[in-house]
Amino acid sequence: MRALSGIQPTGRFHWGNYFGAIRQYIELQDKAEHAFYFIANLHALTTVRDPEVLRKYTMEAALDLLGLGLDPDKATLFVQSDVPEVSELCWLFMTGTNMGLLERCHAYKDKKAKGLAADAGLFAYPVLMAADILVYDSDVVPVGEDQNQHIEVARDLAGSFNHQFGETFVMPRAYILSDSAKVPGTDGEKMSKSYGNTIELFEPVKDVKKKIMRIQTDSRPVEEPKEPETDHLYQLYSLFATSEQCEAMAATYRKGGFGYGMVKKELAELAERHFAEARERRAALESKPERVREILGDGAAVARKKAAEVLLRAQKACGVK
Ligand code: ADP
Ligand code: TRP
Repeated sequence: MRALSGIQPTGRFHWGNYFGAIRQYIELQDKAEHAFYFIANLHALTTVRDPEVLRKYTMEAALDLLGLGLDPDKATLFVQSDVPEVSELCWLFMTGTNMGLLERCHAYKDKKAKGLAADAGLFAYPVLMAADILVYDSDVVPVGEDQNQHIEVARDLAGSFNHQFGETFVMPRAYILSDSAKVPGTDGEKMSKSYGNTIELFEPVKDVKKKIMRIQTDSRPVEEPKEPETDHLYQLYSLFATSEQCEAMAATYRKGGFGYGMVKKELAELAERHFAEARERRAALESKPERVREILGDGAAVARKKAAEVLLRAQKACGVK
């Protein structure tokens, strides 16, 4: 099984990104025969328009992933734009992609519905994503539920190319991550950098604590029993707690007579412990940027070898070679 996924460097990664996506990528590096993970800087260009910021976020994404346990001996980590074959394959797919198919894709559709101007890059975003997937002969694509539609586009494009030009691409399938879209933010809505309600993975411990202490809670009296499952503070707590700790906390909620401050304090302690090792690993790498560049360079070399092989196959099939 060949697994592949990408993540956009559009800001600092937060708890939602970790529990919804990154954690599972890291787990898969032990299960997949080959795991390819890349930092989708070409996709990020549809939103990040400051070159220094894009470079910074790209480097930080690499540091975050490596800090969190992505192991370059087990998985191939690289930057999307270091594999130019992807952009070439993207063009082969652009010809032959039905406009209607892309008009139905939500990133573009949502922006248009809000009356915002969308560029051709956003419109063609799913085509580039299809090229990302298909150029490595990927079988399995771990993603959050929100990306499922794009995997369907990749399947669609692979199917019609194969139909027109003969068997060329491996048909990929989505591996929908069960925890995705579930991490609430500090205001109880889905955690997302667009809502300004995130807790970032590697912001200073004291800032994480401050944000936790400011998580919005209701003002019901302390004595009142409360339902844990629907409470976003409890949901955040349960991301870090063992099942015994969760049961004990749930019982406290149902009994009543506790303050949310106590839950927040425990959450802060658990979260600090959970990411302590990752923080250390990240800090060690941060002081060795040349090592990070070497990892990304080696990853790109491995990825390019595979991409060149698949691109040539596609070029021959459609007659440009
Ligand atoms: P953001 O919403 O902050 O812009 P992205 O859309 O860049 O985050 O997220 C990248 C991936 O991280 C998503 O495809 C999804 O799988 C995961 N993710 C993001 N936010 C959450 C969340 N609140 N809960 C679970 N998973 C999330
Ligand atoms: N669009 C994905 C996201 O926003 C990132 C991405 C780009 C991706 N190319 C990919 C994910 C290929 C999986 C496979 O989360």
